[in-house]
Amino acid sequence: MKILTILGARPQFIKAGSVSREIAKHKNIEEIIVHTGQHYDANMSDIFFEEMKIPKPHYFLGIGGKSHGAMTGQMIEKIEEVALKENPDWIMVYGDTNSTLAGAIVASKLHIKLAHIEAGLRSFNMKMPEEVNRILTDRVSTILFCPTDSAIENLQKEGYDNLDCKVVKSGDVMQDGAIFYKKLTVKPSIIQNSKLNIQNYILCTIHRAENTDDETRLKSIFEALDEISKEKQVILPLHPRTKKIIENLKLNIQNLTIIDPVGYLEMVWLIDNCDLVMTDSGGLQKEAYFFEKQCITLRDETEWVELVACGANSLVGADKEKILKAYRNHSKFNIENSTLDLYGGGKASEKIIEYLLEY
Ligand code: UD1
Ligand code: UDP
Repeated sequence: MKILTILGARPQFIKAGSVSREIAKHKNIEEIIVHTGQHYDANMSDIFFEEMKIPKPHYFLGIGGKSHGAMTGQMIEKIEEVALKENPDWIMVYGDTNSTLAGAIVASKLHIKLAHIEAGLRSFNMKMPEEVNRILTDRVSTILFCPTDSAIENLQKEGYDNLDCKVVKSGDVMQDGAIFYKKLTVKPSIIQNSKLNIQNYILCTIHRAENTDDETRLKSIFEALDEISKEKQVILPLHPRTKKIIENLKLNIQNLTIIDPVGYLEMVWLIDNCDLVMTDSGGLQKEAYFFEKQCITLRDETEWVELVACGANSLVGADKEKILKAYRNHSKFNIENSTLDLYGGGKASEKIIEYLLEY
């Protein structure tokens, strides 16, 4: 069986790390990796391939830093060329980025079977590029590997029971990675080499377009973080997108501990040792839960609704006062063990590959 895997952005490398490790156990599967180039800085891309021992991409398309249309269009053209040459049995895509959508469109036009990992998630906010990407990708997928029960329910409500595709509850491949890499974490070199006091800190990330591309929201978030950081250290590995916008807007970030984006092994250390997570990331909301940390989510909606339901995640949006209130009132992580298998318990990659082999 030949699988053409399409990767392009940081969370996809992290997810693919676990699945590629599983694929490597099977001599009868050949994985050809295409890196679209959507993320291209060394600490947004290469580091994950090295740390997670993902095979070097067979194809690097070099399509990053462009508008949505230009990026997605150029990716479609180049992925199609690769797919025609390689003639895979499957195209495999992850999540909801422009690279995901481009891979999905190529598969559907060339009648190649499409496996979508992390299918069925919905924020119900069609202004988010991710929501559009995941809905379109789901609709043309042959197998939709869903991480959660709520993802399955979303698809049922959209009528997927009546469509010519398979909806499978696989669990979440990010939990596979969190469990595997917990043993291999590394204290960030920026902390080891400096005199930063990092005893009690909040780990924060901000990069989603709905925050970075809305000046009012971004200002409000950073005003709240500035206020909080007067009481408690806030460590913020800064996404290059947010960095550029903060510089343009000249936002006050002096009280925050800003560091460059870190690799996954360092990130897992930062999560495991923090007191609280504040983020607009999709992946980090779950990782907070995997490492038993409370999470304040700086978005108006989340795809990971089960975390809000069980009390691990507070959804507060971008309003300064609401963020401050959530920070002041947050409790310690206190979730019953019974809910800790919400995401499949680390067996998702195994299930996905087994399913593909039997299909
Ligand atoms: C993308 C995904 C988002 C995901 C995020 C993960 C889409 C529509 N969005 O958003 O869902 O949460 O990746 O991090 O696919 N840049 C660099 N160096 C890099 C990468 C990006 O400087 O290595 C800068 C460039 O200015 C680029 C901008 O960040 O134009 C945005 O990058 P892009 O890939 O378009 O979107 P993300 O915000 O990273
Ligand atoms: N991450 C990382 N280094 C960082 C910031 C994030 O390794 O400096 C990891 C994070 O732990 C998670 C993934 O990147 O596994 C999430 O990606 P991101 O927040 O970029 O995207 P999203 O999940 O929102 O799509």
